[in-house]
Amino acid sequence: MTIIIGNQKGGAGKSTMTLVLANYLTSAKKCPVTVIDMDYQQSISQKYEKAKILENKEPYEVLSATLETFPVLKEVLMKNSKDVVLIDLPGKLDDDGLLAVFNAADLFICPFAYDEFTFESTMLFTVVLRKVNPKIKMVFIPNRIKANAKFEIMQEVNIQLSKFGVITDVLPDRIDFQRTNTFQTPISLYPVIIPVFEKIYADHLYGKHEIAG
Ligand SMILES: Nc1ncnc2c1ncn2[C@@H]1O[C@H](COP(=O)(O)OP(=O)(O)OP(=O)(O)O)[C@@H](O)[C@H]1O
Ligand SMILES: [Mg+2]
Repeated sequence: MTIIIGNQKGGAGKSTMTLVLANYLTSAKKCPVTVIDMDYQQSISQKYEKAKILENKEPYEVLSATLETFPVLKEVLMKNSKDVVLIDLPGKLDDDGLLAVFNAADLFICPFAYDEFTFESTMLFTVVLRKVNPKIKMVFIPNRIKANAKFEIMQEVNIQLSKFGVITDVLPDRIDFQRTNTFQTPISLYPVIIPVFEKIYADHLYGKHEIAG
């Protein structure tokens, strides 16, 4: 099972959602995970190196990959492994090397926000991905939603996105998301992340991985 986390829009929450999902699967579901970091900023890899110094045992491996190294990594990892592979994508659609990554995936998770510019980037990314990989399942996570979000815009965006996949419950804008690392998601966030990630797990992952131990 290979999951790509992407959006053209910078700062939409790709790296954060990758970490929250990796932490959720390993800690709440005993589901083995490998994270592939393809973000140009290597933000997850940096967190991982830092955390390895401070903690004892890392709950999952984080491998960095480029568009050049991905095809080989895919052969090694995805064919032989029972792990759920989570790929934090670069926020650009400017390289043909991405086609191999898009084609390798079973599920697309897309964090997005309800504003015009994010919507355009989200749509563009989604349409291109659907063309390249017609069979991929899609899940859209409204992220960093503020209490005063406009209902009409939300409804309009949801109508468009639901033509491609499922839209989950919203994740609020909360400072504790910024403390998520490769070892844990702050426990205070569980009440808001459970509805979102439990649904993703039930719809796409339940029964599709070996229970460890
Ligand atoms: N729900 C949230 N509430 C508050 N802060 C959030 C939330 N989600 C993400 N953030 C913060 O927003 C910033 C951008 O998030 P993140 O790095 O995950 O986005 P990204 O899509 O990976 O960005 P990039 O395009 O730069 O790779 C980070 O500082 C992150 O901690
Ligand atoms: Mg990122």
